[in-house]
Amino acid sequence: MLEIGVVGAGVYGRTHLGAFKQRERLSGDMRLAAFAEINAEVRRTAERDFGVRGYPSLAEMLGKERLDGVTVATPDHLHHRAVVECLEGGRHVFVEKPLSTDVGEAREMAELAERKGLLLQVDFHKRFDPYHVDLKLRLRDGQLGRLEYGYCWMEDVLRIGTGVIGQSHWGAGGSPAWFLGIHMIDLTCWLMDFPEPVKVYATGAKGKLASLGHDIYDSIKATVTYANGVAVTYDTAVVLPNSHEAVVRQGVKMVGTEGILVVDSQYRGARGCTTAGGMETPNCGGFGRKIAKNGEVVQSGYINDSLVDFVDNLAELRKGTPLSALAGRYASAREGLISTRIGVAIHQSLAGGNLVQVPQ
Ligand SMILES: NC(=O)c1ccc[n+]([C@@H]2O[C@H](COP(=O)([O-])OP(=O)(O)OC[C@H]3O[C@@H](n4cnc5c(N)ncnc54)[C@H](O)[C@@H]3O)[C@@H](O)[C@H]2O)c1
Repeated sequence: MLEIGVVGAGVYGRTHLGAFKQRERLSGDMRLAAFAEINAEVRRTAERDFGVRGYPSLAEMLGKERLDGVTVATPDHLHHRAVVECLEGGRHVFVEKPLSTDVGEAREMAELAERKGLLLQVDFHKRFDPYHVDLKLRLRDGQLGRLEYGYCWMEDVLRIGTGVIGQSHWGAGGSPAWFLGIHMIDLTCWLMDFPEPVKVYATGAKGKLASLGHDIYDSIKATVTYANGVAVTYDTAVVLPNSHEAVVRQGVKMVGTEGILVVDSQYRGARGCTTAGGMETPNCGGFGRKIAKNGEVVQSGYINDSLVDFVDNLAELRKGTPLSALAGRYASAREGLISTRIGVAIHQSLAGGNLVQVPQ
């Protein structure tokens, strides 16, 4: 039986815990063995909600639990420390996006995993959205002809700015491009089969969040030019009104010589209003629900799929499939490094107000 541990039981760590607890219950091929969380109150709450042992440190969890794999859901700037500790401890790792906000750290993690022969997978769950898979296959079949340009948008409500990336324990690293843009950067790189990113020009606006005591960008507009000649613009923001009909507006448009496809992954055709919740556009693609054979209502959708894909990969490795045979079938650290290089270039362009070359 595979044994899984989680690091960080905050907002998204709870999504990891929930997905693995469900997998344990439904499939019986893995056990959510433990989690590590440094905040005592957060730890107690998660222990109570998920019925799993919580350790106050990763070192203690690694020392006491067998663990085949560990998933990391700490704030972005703390990924490196936790990932290195897990890899050094001989564990396969699944890490939240972005792999890192630093190119050197991202490369070091990718190289360490390779040296140790361990899986290091990044949570780029947009790749699991069936609409995005369809877009990728259409591009592969040449239905859109030669790609000319693309556009992505991902815009969150204000409470994500104030309540998540603006929190003090996130350090100075919170930004809409790292938190949101990185999803779309990875998505478009994956859609285009990873052309080399060449140059970036970005502009940003500050004001709303600053007026609320958070020194982070309200919004960022970045255009990345790739070696295949395609320019993709990424609009990201964390200042939508909290009353917006969805937590996030998001989508992708790709335009080629023979076609166009736009995926609106906020409004998928279902829109309604309730007294309790107000206007809403349910995104069943991301947080979907299914009725299992035993009648239980279970979580499905691309958010869950990306997490349990790590377990599927560990099961493959357990069967004897070599890690090299999984190449191209999961979001690797090398691919995570590409997105990190672009993210760093975006922030360099913002700081300098100029066009920058994507760092190696
Ligand atoms: N895939 C997605 O769509 C998605 C969505 C939201 C967040 N995220 C990512 O998930 C990560 C966590 O985000 P969040 O919103 O849950 O943040 P959060 O601040 O709510 O939670 C992070 C938790 O990590 C804990 N922590 C920090 N250092 C630790 C350590 N060394 N050992 C154990 N615990 C530690 C903190 O105490 C905190 O409880 C970020 O990288 C974020 O970008 C991904």
